[in-house]
Formats: sequence, C-alpha cells, structure tokens
Amino acid sequence: MTGSFITFEGPDGAGKTTQLTLLAEHLRRRGHAVRLTREPGGTPLSDKIRSLLLDPSHSEMDARTEALLYMASRAQHVAEVIGPGLARGEVILCDRFADSTVVYQGAARRLAKQELLAINRFATGGLIPDLTILLDCDAVRLTGRRKSRGGQDRIEREAEAFHDNVRQGFLDLAAAEPERIKLVAAEGSVTDVHNAIVKLVEEFLRRRGKREDQ
Ligand SMILES: Nc1ncnc2c1ncn2[C@@H]1O[C@H](COP(=O)(O)OP(=O)(O)OP(=O)(O)O)[C@@H](O)[C@H]1O
Ligand SMILES: [Mg+2]
Repeated sequence: MTGSFITFEGPDGAGKTTQLTLLAEHLRRRGHAVRLTREPGGTPLSDKIRSLLLDPSHSEMDARTEALLYMASRAQHVAEVIGPGLARGEVILCDRFADSTVVYQGAARRLAKQELLAINRFATGGLIPDLTILLDCDAVRLTGRRKSRGGQDRIEREAEAFHDNVRQGFLDLAAAEPERIKLVAAEGSVTDVHNAIVKLVEEFLRRRGKREDQ
C-alpha cells in the first residue's frame, strides 16, 4: 500500500499554511488518514536545522551552506516521517518541499539548478511529490500579507527583487511540469482558494484510486 505525497509551494505569504490546515481538515472529514508536515522541519532534528536557517542573526550564511542545510533537514524528514507515512498508505501534506529549494536557492540565489537537483536526489532518495499545489499571488498582495503577519524571518527580509525572482521561478517550474504542478490563483478569499484546491485534490485522489483498482 502506498499513500499520496502532496506538497504546497509558493512565495512567502501566499497562503500555503492557511490552505494546508483547511485541506487537512477536509480530507480527514472524508475519512483519509492525513499527516500534515512542513519544511524545513517536520522532525525534531529537522526543526533544529530550521531555526538555524530562519534565524535573522545569521546574515553571513553562504548560499551553499543554506542549500545543504535545507537538504539535511529534508533527508531526515523523508527518512523519519514522509517515507514511513507513505508506506502506511497515508496522505502526506507537506508545506514546501524540493521545488522551494530549486526556486529559492536556484532562481533567487543563483546556484546551479542541475547541482541542486543532484543533491536533492541524494537527500530524498529520488522521492518526488505525486501532486504539487502552487499558490500564486501578485507581489503587492504578498508584501501586504507578509507585513500584516508581523515579525519577519531571515528569508522574508530579502529585497523585493528576491521575492519577484521567487515568484517567477515557481511559475517557470509549473510551466515545465504541468502534470504534477497545479497552479492555483491565491488572490481570492480563503474560501475561494480552498474550494479550488479541494477540486484539484479530489480529482487527483479519484484518479489515483481508479489506478489502484485496476
Ligand atoms: N486568501 C487570502 N486572503 C487574504 N489573506 C490571506 C489569504 N490567505 C492567507 N491570508 C493571510 O496572509 C498571511 C499569510 O498566509 P500564510 O501564513 O498561510 O502564508 P504562507 O504561504 O504559509 O507563508 P510562508 O511561506 O511565509 O509560511 C496570513 O496572515 C493569512 O491569514
Ligand atoms: Mg507558512
């Protein structure tokens, strides 16, 4: 029995955490065994790495150090939580995964994409999400949502150009992998965005269920 690995991606403040919480509740009501988790983090060891990554006092952090810390956090997360959960047949909902690394460390920090993909394969053992929901939102709204939330972490403090590169990086990924990555406009109300996501996820789970019946 294998579960379903669904990731949420998108710029800071697009609404990933808000929407994941709602989707988890929805799927649980429908009787699915759901595990909600996040990157960087998801295990005690990975959470310690997360606090290193987001600590604003580490402004000296080199882009390669940053990339490797994300990968280290992910390796532990896959080994300890995601892999075993999938083996038990759970729906794993993960707040950010490898696409964020390709975009933040690649498109925005300018590390070579092919190198990042190679290290990522090593970290994950080749695990790729079955479905990725990409929440896209215009820059003005994003800045407003980030600021309304108060205290900003090390990544959120980056200049507007960095966030523009992040948004474009995600759109490029979605265009390159339209089967796996589904783009959802996140400008609407929380309920509108939730309804759009539920439609995509239910369609995905239906197709998956059919394949397993064959
Ligand atoms: N559709 C929406 N309309 C208006 N505000 C929203 C919407 N979705 C989320 N918000 C608000 O925007 C802020 C950012 O949302 P959230 O924390 O879910 O984003 P995120 O994508 O998880 O961000 P991060 O990448 O930084 O974790 C929150 O204050 C949230 O309440
Ligand atoms: Mg979040």
